[in-house]
Amino acid sequence: MRISKWFFVILIVSLLKPQISYGVSELSQKFLDFAKKSEVFDWMVGVRRKIHENPELGYQEFETSKFIREELDKLGISYKHPVAVTGVIGFIGSGEPPFVALRADMDALSMQEMVEWEHKSKVAGKMHACGHDGHVTMLLGAAKILKTHSHLLKGTVVLVFQPAEEGGGGAKQVVDSGLLENIKAIFALHVYPGQPLGQVYSKSGAFLAGSGFFEAVITGKGGHAAIPQHSIDPILAASHVVVSLQHIVSRIADPLDSQVVTVAKFHGGGAFNVIPDSVTIGGTFRAFSKESFMQLRDRIEEVIVGQASVHRCNASVVFSTKDKPFFPATINDEGLHKFFQDVAGDVLGVDNVKEMPPLMGSEDFSFYQEIMPGYFSFIGMDDGKNGTPASLHSPFFKLNEDVLPYGAALHATLAATYLHQSQLTEHHDEL
Ligand SMILES: *[C@@H]1O[C@H](CO)[C@@H](O)[C@H](O)[C@H]1NC(C)=O
Repeated sequence: MRISKWFFVILIVSLLKPQISYGVSELSQKFLDFAKKSEVFDWMVGVRRKIHENPELGYQEFETSKFIREELDKLGISYKHPVAVTGVIGFIGSGEPPFVALRADMDALSMQEMVEWEHKSKVAGKMHACGHDGHVTMLLGAAKILKTHSHLLKGTVVLVFQPAEEGGGGAKQVVDSGLLENIKAIFALHVYPGQPLGQVYSKSGAFLAGSGFFEAVITGKGGHAAIPQHSIDPILAASHVVVSLQHIVSRIADPLDSQVVTVAKFHGGGAFNVIPDSVTIGGTFRAFSKESFMQLRDRIEEVIVGQASVHRCNASVVFSTKDKPFFPATINDEGLHKFFQDVAGDVLGVDNVKEMPPLMGSEDFSFYQEIMPGYFSFIGMDDGKNGTPASLHSPFFKLNEDVLPYGAALHATLAATYLHQSQLTEHHDEL
């Protein structure tokens, strides 16, 4: 009886204390002001430019990872490394539960940057054209904010710097490392060109599609192009395969259930007058539900093999492998949706928090969402100064560095507020 009475008093005190020491809106303003301070902003710009100049592909982010660890060392933040080859997982706060995670992806794309500027990619054929340089920077920015205010943290923030988002499924390997057990929620931000600077876009539930890759070799018999009767022409067979694949979505899929099959690769032949032995085609397929996704997968294989055989060719089909796993759909947790909208409204202003319809793009963030509630959102960066901005994955893609403080402050506020609120609810549970 006595114990429970004291327990009650302590509970009341601990319930009241955080509310007295700071309110959530106050925190968001504090963090955003901090992120916008010229010394913090300039540091973030420097970090981003350094990563932009030195892009590395999935699972090869060795220098990026080293640079991140050096910055964490300077901030006095402890971390685990290596995780999933090049990944780094940092920890800020009490080291005790509750745990909340923030994620940034580190890899670049294999494409040549066409933007001429002082900090253009120094590596021919590699470019940060998906803004992952900005994502790493925003997470390091959040790390600086949170470390500076770590006395306010009611638990532990876990920083996930993950490799190989671009098809490599780095998130799956991070999940498989087992280091994310006991984390209650995870958040990620993705920069988005063409939407106003400092506005966020997301939705509750299914947001991005599940995706897979396929590749097929269609084999015939090569020979002289002018004597086709002595050959078995894989070019003609593959052409029919491509056309037939278009009918899967139009005739097999439910028109109300969004799906895509695209052949994006067609390689065969090398001379005007030679029928080649084989043709290789490849592409991607997308759907939101697991059932639709598996139906696409099965039908793609049947169509390729069946249509090749009509033309007397053989076909072998391979799907996503361990290196390029199927990505599940990105499904935003319903409970986190309200939380995200409240916090983002505090940091960016309620008018800057927008709903967005689902996209057929995909994200390996979905692997985290399979083991814990997760929330993915886009952050706009268009200030209207550069005409129509180039899209993600364009060689002309440009990241507006003015987005960095917004992203950093939003990350930091999401994490700090989540810990704060989950501690309050835990006490309520005990009561
Ligand atoms: C297809 O495979 C069968 C069985 O292996 C083989 O007999 C045939 O020659 C192959 N056809 C072509 C065009 O490669």
